[in-house]
Amino acid sequence: MAQTERIGILTSGGDAPGMNAAIRSVVRVAIEEGYEVIGFLRGYNGLIEDDYVELTVRSVSDIIHRGGTIIYTARCDEFRTVEGRQKAAEVCRKHNLKGLVVIGGDGTFTGALALTREHGINCVGIPATIDNDIGATDYSIGFDTAVNTAAEMVDKIRDTSQSHDRCTVVEVMGRHAGYIALDTGMATGATAILIPEIPFDFETDVIGRIRETMANGKKHFIIMVAEGVGGVGDMAKEIGKRLNIEARASVLGYVQRGGSPTAKDRVIASLMGYRAIDLLNNNIKSRVVIYKNDRVLDADIEEALATKKSISIDTYDFSKQINS
Ligand code: F6P
Repeated sequence: MAQTERIGILTSGGDAPGMNAAIRSVVRVAIEEGYEVIGFLRGYNGLIEDDYVELTVRSVSDIIHRGGTIIYTARCDEFRTVEGRQKAAEVCRKHNLKGLVVIGGDGTFTGALALTREHGINCVGIPATIDNDIGATDYSIGFDTAVNTAAEMVDKIRDTSQSHDRCTVVEVMGRHAGYIALDTGMATGATAILIPEIPFDFETDVIGRIRETMANGKKHFIIMVAEGVGGVGDMAKEIGKRLNIEARASVLGYVQRGGSPTAKDRVIASLMGYRAIDLLNNNIKSRVVIYKNDRVLDADIEEALATKKSISIDTYDFSKQINS
């Protein structure tokens, strides 16, 4: 009897809330289409080492609301090598894989593209990173949850800032990207937002902004800073000294990457999982699922990787107007 065709799935890079919802959707749609599904553990490491679990309709029960990823995630140096990808391809062939669904960011998709080019293994990418910085897609799984988590934390910080007439300089995640900072700053009425994509002048855009709002009667301030800008401790000291007010720094950190995904992340992740299996099932090769103009679509992986994303200057300028 012919071996049942299988679909492989893995999560790679930084985790993001909603990855589990995507896994659940991929597994259930694939099984419905007659495939078996195996989940490789700890990203491309599991693929190279043939370390996997079988995923069934029941094994993905009770995960739609859980943060993290049930199949773990990691970065994998060996997969960057020709030998590593050779081993991974052998594992794919051993399991009679129809295709591989890879959930992660640009690094994950770059690996998938190399595996397809060198060994003809069909891979489909699903974008998931709280940073929301993947060029080809308007939206990446996890972003909405991260922004809501950060906003909730900043609301708490605001209470204590208000009680003490303080300025708090808050760092949110985003090593190279300011999307979390921009939306969280907008949602929490930050006096200034500093992101790596838009140059700023500390004197004008921070000290000057606080002075302006002080003249307006404001006594407590939130300065929202993306991780990629950094330096929140020094900024707080400088603000305190220059303006003669109390200032503190607060780094929100990994809380932003965990927690139960919002309904938006669950819904988009589920739709993306469906689209990924539809592509593999129809032998459409080397695609990445994307979200554009409120629709789940797909794009060529190589083109997707070459697409640059630009941050909304309008949102940035508008936040200055209303956060006074
Ligand atoms: O998930 C994206 C991200 O949160 C970046 O903003 C951050 O710099 C990075 O991951 C840190 O991840 P790790 O410590 O796991 O390398």
